Amino acid sequence: MAITYLDNNATTRVDPRVLTQMLPYFSDEYGNPSSAHQFGSRVAGRIEEARTQVARLIGARETEIIFTSGGTEADNLALRGVLAARPSKRHVVISAVEHHAIFEPCEALQREGFQVTSIGVDREGRLDLDQLAANIRDDTAIVSIMLANNETGVIFPLREVAAIAHQRGVPVHTDAVNALGKTRVNVEELGVDLLSLSSHKIYGPKGVGALYVRRNTPLRPMMIGGGQERKRRGGTSNAPGIIGLGAACQILHELSDAGMEQVGALHDQLEAELRRRFPDILILGAGAERLPNTCCACFPGLSSEPLVMLLSENGICVSSGAACSSGSLEPSRVVQAMGIEPRIGQGQIRFSLGRFNTAADIQRLFEVLPQVVEKVSRANL
Ligand SMILES: Cc1ncc(COP(=O)(O)O)c(C=O)c1O
Repeated sequence: MAITYLDNNATTRVDPRVLTQMLPYFSDEYGNPSSAHQFGSRVAGRIEEARTQVARLIGARETEIIFTSGGTEADNLALRGVLAARPSKRHVVISAVEHHAIFEPCEALQREGFQVTSIGVDREGRLDLDQLAANIRDDTAIVSIMLANNETGVIFPLREVAAIAHQRGVPVHTDAVNALGKTRVNVEELGVDLLSLSSHKIYGPKGVGALYVRRNTPLRPMMIGGGQERKRRGGTSNAPGIIGLGAACQILHELSDAGMEQVGALHDQLEAELRRRFPDILILGAGAERLPNTCCACFPGLSSEPLVMLLSENGICVSSGAACSSGSLEPSRVVQAMGIEPRIGQGQIRFSLGRFNTAADIQRLFEVLPQVVEKVSRANL
């Protein structure tokens, strides 16, 4: 059965141009980039080229990029790395809708005696900036607020967040994993000190990402041994992965806004058709600034699990919120933080489009979705 893939916030297909650039580094070019001989330093040179490609995309300097094993590691390094470098500060501020990669490390930090404050959002998913300003303390080590929410696509005003935190001398981290490639991401414009990104959300390989760390930002390494990444992240570099991430960034840089215009047009078509066919649905964050590819719709009175499963049986891939939290029947943490009633929030389906989607995918969705919704409502699943 052909797959209709509408789950691009969970992961994306590797762009064939990215794969082509990676392949030699699995075979002929297998040197260790840390080796002194020319066979290794050739690979090291290619890694530095990838660093330039990543830095250029986000408006950073090469020396400010640390390659990691993905967004999760970048998020963990940002939190733990700054806390370790500022031992007298034991308080962290996050938003109530952060990804697990921030939320769970913060739960762990709380068990270790650190204090964490979560800033709330309104019913549209917008961040409460007054609450943020009121909750920054003298002992706040870091403020970590995501750039765009992976479930709803709501974009947070990081420039304002950074201005508020910097007034109190607190560094700001943003998880831009689901924002990069879908909205403009430039560290100077955003004014952030640290920023996480992940390759597999931007048509690169899985298991590689990066943390941007503005010069002079205090950060201690978490992974020690070998001295790679200027002693900020030890371990033999994942050369094919890093080269793939660089290539993915280069393509985004060249595409500029062009890639998103097509995705945005498909998204608008999808959302208009959803509203037309299901007048009682609630589209999360519809009143807020949102990513052009994400449509998170709640079907009141229905459960998302059977909807996702029946769509999947028909070859259509969507998500019931954050991909990694599927399986639980509770409305997602994000939906709860937005104050959406459980009867509505339980029927949450996230459609997320990408560069490889076409109008035929939207057409296929609407060939199947009405029957699926009908079946789930009739069976009272
Ligand atoms: C907002 C956000 N942060 C972090 C991550 C984790 O990134 P990775 O899968 O590269 O570890 C994800 C992935 O779902 C995400 O959407």
